[in-house]
Amino acid sequence: FHLSLSLSLSLSLSGLIVHGPSAPLVAPLGSSVVLPCYVDKPLPVEDLELEWRRTDSETLVYLYQDGESQTEAQQHDYHDRAHFFTDEIQHGNFSLYLDNLRAEDEGRYTCRVYSQQDSGETVVEIKYVVRLLVSGSKHSISASVGEDVTLNCSVDSRIPSEDIEVSWKKTNEKIQVLLYQNNETFPDSADEQYRDRVEFFTAEIPKGNFSLRLKSIRTEDIGVYMCEVLAGGLSANATAVLE
Ligand SMILES: *[C@@H]1O[C@H](CO)[C@@H](O)[C@H](O)[C@H]1NC(C)=O
Ligand SMILES: *[C@@H]1O[C@H](CO)[C@@H](O)[C@H](O)[C@H]1NC(C)=O
Ligand SMILES: *[C@@H]1O[C@H](CO)[C@@H](O)[C@H](O)[C@H]1NC(C)=O
Ligand SMILES: *[C@@H]1O[C@H](CO)[C@@H](O)[C@H](O)[C@H]1NC(C)=O
Ligand SMILES: *[C@@H]1O[C@H](CO)[C@@H](O)[C@H](O)[C@H]1NC(C)=O
Repeated sequence: FHLSLSLSLSLSLSGLIVHGPSAPLVAPLGSSVVLPCYVDKPLPVEDLELEWRRTDSETLVYLYQDGESQTEAQQHDYHDRAHFFTDEIQHGNFSLYLDNLRAEDEGRYTCRVYSQQDSGETVVEIKYVVRLLVSGSKHSISASVGEDVTLNCSVDSRIPSEDIEVSWKKTNEKIQVLLYQNNETFPDSADEQYRDRVEFFTAEIPKGNFSLRLKSIRTEDIGVYMCEVLAGGLSANATAVLE
């Protein structure tokens, strides 16, 4: 009895299925971002009502009602920064465009859709609004065969290391040297040439220091190395030259 009751309840309450992005968003400070919100099948435009709010504060970011944008209802700060693609409504696309991003824009946003008797919602998270700067080695590194060297790579960002992916590659030959992903180092990602000869300074990683230790160097190690940093959709890189 319990099962059938909860099933019928969830069916009658589920209403519209509204989709958002598959992962939290990461965007550069000062940039613009699209907060995706859409339904699979277009809805009748008459009686359609759309509402974007900050999930925690319920602050109104954008409202579409009675066939038009209700700009006087939205919170003042979003007046010039939140844009809506009215032409997209007919395609079931209710995405919001947010301009000139600041750190305070981090957080969750609820996109609520009302159509005739139905309603549905999705939550979009802007996880980080940040700078992502990467610096490498300032000058080229010379060493003799058999020595150990450190190739510099430091990430300047508020993004914690567990949300960052770092890939060290040798650029000339596009060889994977070492990978850091999901808060873990993957020594097996290293090309055979570097297997068991490369490592991060584990204790330094939380500080954004992803410098690479390359041990007992060989002549064929000469070349340009790139440290490529990914966070959300953002990427940045720096290089180190080994002579
Ligand atoms: C919705 O419209 C925006 C703006 O034109 C576009 O960037 C986005 O890709 C569209 N989304 C879908 C699901 O069509
Ligand atoms: C690597 O970084 C350290 C610390 O910032 C610095 O002292 C050193 O000169 C750098 N090495 C290169 C080759 O740029
Ligand atoms: C990431 O790894 C460090 C060290 O292994 C650990 O202390 C920390 O709890 C991990 N963080 C997450 C989010 O898994
Ligand atoms: C990163 O850590 C290594 C090992 O402790 C150190 O040699 C290097 O100077 C550090 N780099 C920066 C930029 O602090
Ligand atoms: C490295 O960063 C520069 C900008 O600093 C960019 O132009 C280039 O495409 C990046 N390279 C890769 C392989 O991502």
